[in-house]
Amino acid sequence: MHKGLAIYPGSFDPTTNGHLDLIERGAKIFEELVVAILRNSEKSPMFSVAERLEMLRELTSDLKNVRIDTFDGLMVEYAKSLNATCILRGIRAISDYEYELQMALMNRKLEPTLETVFMMPADKYSYVSSRLVREVAQAGGPVKGLVPEIVEQRLRHKLEPAYKFHDEMYQVEPEVPSGREKKRKKKS
Ligand code: PNS
Repeated sequence: MHKGLAIYPGSFDPTTNGHLDLIERGAKIFEELVVAILRNSEKSPMFSVAERLEMLRELTSDLKNVRIDTFDGLMVEYAKSLNATCILRGIRAISDYEYELQMALMNRKLEPTLETVFMMPADKYSYVSSRLVREVAQAGGPVKGLVPEIVEQRLRHKLEPAYKFHDEMYQVEPEVPSGREKKRKKKS
């Protein structure tokens, strides 16, 4: 186990099973892991910071060396304030690499003593992202298996009208034969 504290920063809007997988892996490697939710994100979030904090706390309550926090401003400044030695980030596919490399190098420029450590979540989550989960859920689609159960429930609650619409649209109606089909049935 690596002595010291690592930070896993992100938006977590919402937490996916891929995030959780990475938190569990990180908790095995680092003495202490702080999952840090960015507060001043420009995007209009689906879940408030308070909601994301609450969900992540519940989801990680059994991991004794994991703490959930929020931060504002530069991530490296926040990391320094905690005396963190590492930043943990997940890489799912090559497409993540360019953005993550840029961010890691910029963070290194800002604070050369902080190392970024990349880990891969389980391959079954390699296509799961918060953005896609939001997109599917907003259209009333199923997100079971992609996010933890409590997140799924909260999504359903938040997006009740979308799910209601989707459930009604895809309800299998008993088939009513058309006029021509009725005639054909009579003939045969
Ligand atoms: O989950 P995300 O949205 O990919 O996380 C991105 C995050 C929060 C890690 C990144 O945007 C960040 O660290 N923002 C804080 C501001 C900062 O330090 N910017 C410079 C990073 S190069």
